[in-house]
Amino acid sequence: MSGKPLLVTCGLPYTNGPCHLGHLRTYVPADFYVRYLRRCGEDVVFICGSDNHGTPIVISAEQEGATPRVLAERYHAHFDETFKRMEISFDHFGMTDDAANHRRAQSMVQALIDNGYVYSQTIQQSFCTKCNRFLPDRYVEGICPYCGASARGDECDRGCGRHLEPGEIKNPVCKVCGSPAEMREQEHFFFKLGEFKDFLLTYLDGLSGTSNARNYAIGWVKDELHDWCITRTLDWGVKFPGRNDLVVYVWVDAPIGYISFTEEWAAKTGNDWKCYWCGEGEVTHFIGSDIIYHHCIFWPALLHGAGYGTPHAVVASGMVKFEDQKFSKSRGYVVWTNDDYLDQGLPADYLRYYLLSYTSHTKELNFSWRIFQERVNSEIVNTLGNFFYRTLHFAHKFFGGVPPGQADPEVLSEIGRCLEGLDVSVREYEFKNAVDSMMALAAYGNTYIQNNAPWKLVKTDRAAAEQVIINCLQIARALALIIEPVMPDAAGRAWAMLGYADNVSAHRVDEALELVQSGPLPAPEPLFAKIEDDKVAELEKILEKRVSEARMKEMKAAEETSEISIDDFAAMDLRVARVVSAEAVKGSKKLLRIMVDLGDEQRQVVSGIATFYSPEELVGKSVVMIVNLKPAKIFGIESQGMILAAGDAASLLMPLRDVAPGTKIR
Ligand code: MSP
Ligand code: ZN
Repeated sequence: MSGKPLLVTCGLPYTNGPCHLGHLRTYVPADFYVRYLRRCGEDVVFICGSDNHGTPIVISAEQEGATPRVLAERYHAHFDETFKRMEISFDHFGMTDDAANHRRAQSMVQALIDNGYVYSQTIQQSFCTKCNRFLPDRYVEGICPYCGASARGDECDRGCGRHLEPGEIKNPVCKVCGSPAEMREQEHFFFKLGEFKDFLLTYLDGLSGTSNARNYAIGWVKDELHDWCITRTLDWGVKFPGRNDLVVYVWVDAPIGYISFTEEWAAKTGNDWKCYWCGEGEVTHFIGSDIIYHHCIFWPALLHGAGYGTPHAVVASGMVKFEDQKFSKSRGYVVWTNDDYLDQGLPADYLRYYLLSYTSHTKELNFSWRIFQERVNSEIVNTLGNFFYRTLHFAHKFFGGVPPGQADPEVLSEIGRCLEGLDVSVREYEFKNAVDSMMALAAYGNTYIQNNAPWKLVKTDRAAAEQVIINCLQIARALALIIEPVMPDAAGRAWAMLGYADNVSAHRVDEALELVQSGPLPAPEPLFAKIEDDKVAELEKILEKRVSEARMKEMKAAEETSEISIDDFAAMDLRVARVVSAEAVKGSKKLLRIMVDLGDEQRQVVSGIATFYSPEELVGKSVVMIVNLKPAKIFGIESQGMILAAGDAASLLMPLRDVAPGTKIR
């Protein structure tokens, strides 16, 4: 326990699409962590909000014919609602487009300018002449200059994962109209990130959180640290101080949202936001590993440069994937939190449990409904649920509740060991281990009740049966108290079945060691229900359908792109050519050297038709030829065009009616 005021944040979701299971790997573990700390009596505030700016939102809004603000508000409400359904207990959920953030972002950028960390520079920027505008970030697509993969304007998302600076992308194409972009000069503002190298190395050395965040960041800083262009030619966003035509890059005002949301929360609750951002309070950021660079390099440098304190810890999760593929809306590799999970009648508790316990927090998580079902049924239902129900059922049936007496010391020490393990794991961000130690206590309870068989004992030795069930009830009470951060809903129901009228979250975790009190109990009900095979089949079908539909769409799009325009066709110069002479090419069985008359010129063509035609039968014939094909040397002879033929036997195309040599084919 640090004793300091703690602030925990989560990566802010973009408001240009719905919540998926990948997102939840940031929010569920953070919520688990916060709930646990609160229940240890720590002073912790949990802050998040939506990230409203950036080009993808503007593009989506344009496509819909809505304003970006309307779109942002709609998805903001969606995330807010989804988080509530998932029992994510934010103290405040703000919007980066709200006034507090515009103010805070402008004042921080001004501070960076005043402190000499911003300079202007004229750079080459992609410009679309057809759309008549500059193309910031996601408005362009092209080729990554580092690895050659196809990339977005600001990020090599399919290749090396690098952040791309404006103007860096190769072969830029306008995303809106598809035309190749040209480069034009424009004045932009840069943040001197390169000057923060020493500061960052010292800072990262002491950064808490998961080692993946720290290690990646240290590697990158040592490798190269280039300045960041922090302005964009866009209307939507926070205006760069003194420039009405420029907004700040979304990655400037988004993390500043962490501060402005703290301000909003503080104003609402009468707290002091400065304590977290310029004082003794500690800030912990929960993010996915896709945005480590932004949180461990760019953000602390920005804070430091503007005269603020820096975050205490960055906790970065591995990415959620599907069939080893990155989540991708366009490819159908995505599981939606509402449509595919909550609206299917599945409880938030199960998904929270799965996301926390499937694998270590920093590892990738390959999503599968089968494994989800397996974990839920064998661990939550069979181990935890079973123990709980057996215990309560027996206590209620034979004793009408908790009999008088005290749990045995070895049972209490087992609970004590569980609490210690749990605490160590949570503070090391080893959430899987934390959940495993809870399950180990449930498994211990199961073994204990099975070995002592109170249902037999009660017939021969009622006092001994009482003692067994008191021990079991002590474990059940401990479980209700400790599973709350993972499964808040089930913990609440378990607490009520143990006869308590208040809220389980009002109790500290270490009250698990307080002795269970005798008294009546209500008739218990099973805490959990199994996930049946046909339900899983149904869920899998939804995913399969989505992936195959996306594939069809992709194929159709590919077909469409293989269509050519009339302009493409017009680019081919096809003409009628009359064969003047033909002869075999020495040393080749297949080739003929043919001289053709094109009206105003004669050309030589090398054609692979010697096995089908004798030179004599060709002379005087009119054939079809492409004349603007790049000349090529065949067998050392230059071929200045190509005669068209159909099929394996090279049937030559001839005009049906007589036309003059050189007549253009249209
Ligand atoms: N808006 C930025 C974050 C700005 S923070 C100042 C962003 N938004 S996001 O909507 O793409 O992601 C929101 C959170 O979910 C981030 O923490 C991100 O790392 C996390 N995840 C999004 N997709 C994910 C997976 N497929 N797997 C794990 N986490 C991922 O990034
Ligand atoms: Zn365009």
